[in-house]
Amino acid sequence: MIELLLPDADATDRLGRLLAHTRPSPAVVHLHGDLGAGKSTLARALLRALGVQGAIRSPTYTLVERYPLPAGEAWHLDLYRIGNAGELDFLGLDEAAADLWLVEWPERGAGALPPLDLQVALEMHGTGRKASLHAHSPAGEAWLERARQSGHLQGLPAA
Ligand SMILES: Nc1ncnc2c1ncn2[C@@H]1O[C@H](COP(=O)(O)OP(=O)(O)O)[C@@H](O)[C@H]1O
Ligand SMILES: [Mg+2]
Repeated sequence: MIELLLPDADATDRLGRLLAHTRPSPAVVHLHGDLGAGKSTLARALLRALGVQGAIRSPTYTLVERYPLPAGEAWHLDLYRIGNAGELDFLGLDEAAADLWLVEWPERGAGALPPLDLQVALEMHGTGRKASLHAHSPAGEAWLERARQSGHLQGLPAA
């Protein structure tokens, strides 16, 4: 587990870039946190660092936004508005096509999402945020280890 303080939105961006540069392929990420916690900020920075060009819209109304990556697609989901996990079937998502899942409000899609690699929980901390990163698979463990080894966590003070 890694805990970090993110004093401002730039720090959230830096964490997103770090996760992009150390990520496994494929990867499934759950983003937990209240409205305004910084989930979409983190997802956007991660996608941008993976080379996504153009607008990166919040999937608040569309439920999913898809982006091409070299090894598949990145899917950014926001499940805040789904009534039940069964509604995910209607999106017609082909799991095999996804190289990266970034899921906001994953608890609302419980049972309909692929196995988790990394859980990121964001919470308010003064005017900034606290991030807790939990690995849920061997690939997730290796991911966090690469993030630790990268040296870039030093710019993100430990909680
Ligand atoms: N570490 C941080 N400290 C302060 N503000 C932040 C931080 N990270 C993101 N924000 C800001 O929080 C606001 C809400 O972010 P957003 O990513 O839309 O939240 P969510 O997707 O969790 O609802 C944005 O204005 C963003 O700039
Ligand atoms: Mg959001």
